[in-house]
Amino acid sequence: STSSPRSNASAEFVVVANRLPVDLERTADGTQRWTQSPGGLVSALEPFLRSRKGAWVGWPGVPDVEVDEFSDDGLVLHPVTLTSDEVRDYYEGFSNATLWPLYHDVVARPVFDRGWWESYVRVNRRFAEASAAVAGKGATVWVQDYQLQLVPTMLRELRPDLRIGFFLHIPFPPVELFMQLPWRAEIVRGLIGADLVGFHRPGGAQNFLWLARQLIGLEPSRGSVGVRSRPGMVQVGDRTVRVGAFPISIDAAGLDSLARSKPVQERAAQIRHELGDPKTVLLGVDRLDYTKGIDLRLQAFHELLQEGRVKPEDVAFVQLATPSRERVEHYQQMRTEIEQIVGRINGEFGRVGHPAVHYLHQSVNRSELAAFFSAADVMVVTPLRDGMNLVCKEYVACRHDLGGALVLSEFAGAAAELSSAFLVNPHDLDGVKNALEQAITLDPAEGRRRMRALRRQVLTHDVDRWARSFLEALGTEAAA
Ligand code: ADP
Ligand code: G6P
Repeated sequence: STSSPRSNASAEFVVVANRLPVDLERTADGTQRWTQSPGGLVSALEPFLRSRKGAWVGWPGVPDVEVDEFSDDGLVLHPVTLTSDEVRDYYEGFSNATLWPLYHDVVARPVFDRGWWESYVRVNRRFAEASAAVAGKGATVWVQDYQLQLVPTMLRELRPDLRIGFFLHIPFPPVELFMQLPWRAEIVRGLIGADLVGFHRPGGAQNFLWLARQLIGLEPSRGSVGVRSRPGMVQVGDRTVRVGAFPISIDAAGLDSLARSKPVQERAAQIRHELGDPKTVLLGVDRLDYTKGIDLRLQAFHELLQEGRVKPEDVAFVQLATPSRERVEHYQQMRTEIEQIVGRINGEFGRVGHPAVHYLHQSVNRSELAAFFSAADVMVVTPLRDGMNLVCKEYVACRHDLGGALVLSEFAGAAAELSSAFLVNPHDLDGVKNALEQAITLDPAEGRRRMRALRRQVLTHDVDRWARSFLEALGTEAAA
């Protein structure tokens, strides 16, 4: 539903993110189409922003294309061009081979490369300039995520009239790990240009406050930061910067009603049938990322089969894995590893027409995803570290029938909210196996009790509440 280019240099509410909510796809025959961008940031922000008719500044997902601004269902999209060198150095390099592993507890080794850093600075400046050109006088600009941590200060220098918020969608690491970064002070200085710096968890906010003192000599408040309350404060010249915790969420009501719809329910039944009507369907849904613990959960499943604790004729494990960052080496390694494990499990335990693991290296649309969630008896979410993890909340939102069980890593931000899940330490393989077995053999009444508690949390803490609480703390009219 895109329309022709139109000029808009006076937006009152602007989101700035590395990606636009839509991704330009160029097919082999040279045609182009827009698809939804991958990942949790877009899943969360898109429904919210559409209801608000704001502007969105971001990259269309392919190198070297110049696209004019265009409007899509009332949302004005402002594409920022990245060259293929910048995609390599700023996006695949500094963002996804330095910051991403560093911020996720160094579960892979971060690479520190000066050329990548220079590209990161250059691209952040381009995003700041693009945002300055789009925002109207006194507008609110909400900068998103680890790819754009220098934008708040760069933008403030260009446009001191703006109200600037920043939200980090991934974990903010322990200070001992953050201190490895050669450009640690520059990052903190980049973020402090915002009026409000938001994290998922109070711990992240507190780490940031400590670093502001340690690295740039500011004097932050000392009290503990609450969830959506009691933000920390730092005085920067004549400005007061707030630092708070705002756990992100999903469009819970939208997903709940989608899951209740007849086509989705029919498709869910059909999926179970196509899987051979097993007693238990287990499901994993992730971007194919080494932080997600896809390999670990498959290994746990494999051992349960080998030990005879789970019978191959009783179960089907479905793993949907969206292709992601495919040119980055760690991702290539993880994909190979996962595909080897899948092959090994199916080699040992599959029968003709009935593999034990159904692995799709594909992205599916929202209704299809809701059908998979509705069809799954056990949802397996085992990241080694995850800022929030929306998949587990989406699963819960789809279970109005109070069926299903959630196995969830303690190291996902969501674990703090979803205490009625089967919480596991993904590094403890025996613990994961026990939790899977418990979830598979769960007494239905106990399952309903747990799911009711999970749903109460997810349905009352949706993405709208997240956005409103952030914008209220930012002190803007946009919260109204
Ligand atoms: P991340 O942001 O790290 O990818 P999240 O769990 O927060 O992790 O968000 C992932 C989002 O991508 C969710 O909205 C989820 O539904 C969606 N998603 C993940 N895998 C798939 C897939 N194979 N097909 C369709 N959507 C997917
Ligand atoms: C996570 C990040 C987002 C990112 C998404 C998809 O959700 O927090 O910033 O957009 O993953 O990753 P990609 O590299 O494809 O944008």
